[in-house]
Amino acid sequence: EKGGYEHFMLKEIHEQPRSIMDTMRGRLLVEEDIIQMAGIWDYQEKFLNAERIIIISCGTSWHAGLVGEYLIEDLARIPVEVEYASEFRYRNPIITDKDIVIAISQSGETADSIAALKLAKEKGAFIYGICNVIDSSIARLTDAGSYTHAGPEIGVASTKAFTAQLALLAMIALKLAKHKGTISKERFNSLIIELETIPERVAEVIKNTESQIKKIAELYAGAGNFLYLGRGYNYPIALEGALKLKEISYIHAEGYPAAEMKHGPIALIDENMPVVVIAPKKGYYDKIVSNIQEINSRKGKVIAIVTQGDTVVKDMVTESIEIPDVSEYFTPILSVIPLQLLAYYIAVLRDVNVDQPRNLAKSVTVE
Ligand code: M6R
Repeated sequence: EKGGYEHFMLKEIHEQPRSIMDTMRGRLLVEEDIIQMAGIWDYQEKFLNAERIIIISCGTSWHAGLVGEYLIEDLARIPVEVEYASEFRYRNPIITDKDIVIAISQSGETADSIAALKLAKEKGAFIYGICNVIDSSIARLTDAGSYTHAGPEIGVASTKAFTAQLALLAMIALKLAKHKGTISKERFNSLIIELETIPERVAEVIKNTESQIKKIAELYAGAGNFLYLGRGYNYPIALEGALKLKEISYIHAEGYPAAEMKHGPIALIDENMPVVVIAPKKGYYDKIVSNIQEINSRKGKVIAIVTQGDTVVKDMVTESIEIPDVSEYFTPILSVIPLQLLAYYIAVLRDVNVDQPRNLAKSVTVE
């Protein structure tokens, strides 16, 4: 049932071109120049008049929520807050009937997310679910929702559900932006054309980087710590890369927004500290370049994720992994792939149970 792969996690990493495509199928209609999502369309008024969107989730789904915040604020200009379900529910949050609360959950069974949603519903918010498991508790509890169609995810470390969540959030943000009129018709059209090509780009990333990453994993499998840095859209990916590594390889790893390095974590950098820097040639590229200089001058070992054809960062670092050049909105879907593979190959070398890491369950149904 692992389809020839040694672990479910590796199979699921490789399934991503397909699972992203399945999530977009029937929704992203480039010929008609529309994004069709009944869950959003049926409640258009609510979405277009929402004063705020609150995204609640846990773990990897929370990281997807953070990318969703950037996408929805940037494209559709609706204020978004992203909350850990467990914090939100216990802190007497301010919620009104002008709020939309979106829960993101692969399993749809995460106890803290369910409790947070129930609370939001009691306070009058419209509640929306983004789940992978059909007919799960969250899917049934919510007023409306959209499924990610990633297919069953068996590995405890979430991979294909995450990229499906990112693709779905991109579609929601673009659809809302179109109806709100916060992006031009031309921009909408060129972005949906590009989004449709993302599954192929993901396939390229896997094909072009897997053997290189295996070698990098050999160099760093013995490390005691890792830092992951990213900015903007790729800050949540730094968090996700670190989470993948810690949960399956048991190496301590921290993700940080790159600019925060100087406020503390820089003190940790020496020749024994591998630092994964997500540095696509987008947004704040120059700032990332100076972060890399700072790491270099302290002899940290940089593994950089760069845009194909990059020369500046490439010349500065020992390892650089290339991803195709796409709009910044979609870079997280590509930049996370090498980080999933890196965590996977390091875990394999450390001979641990990749699909069933110690102390973890696939769905966390306890509070
Ligand atoms: O099923 P959910 O998306 O609600 O699960 C949330 C987290 O428990 C989950 O993402 C967890 O962090 C994964 N093991 C991460 O790989």
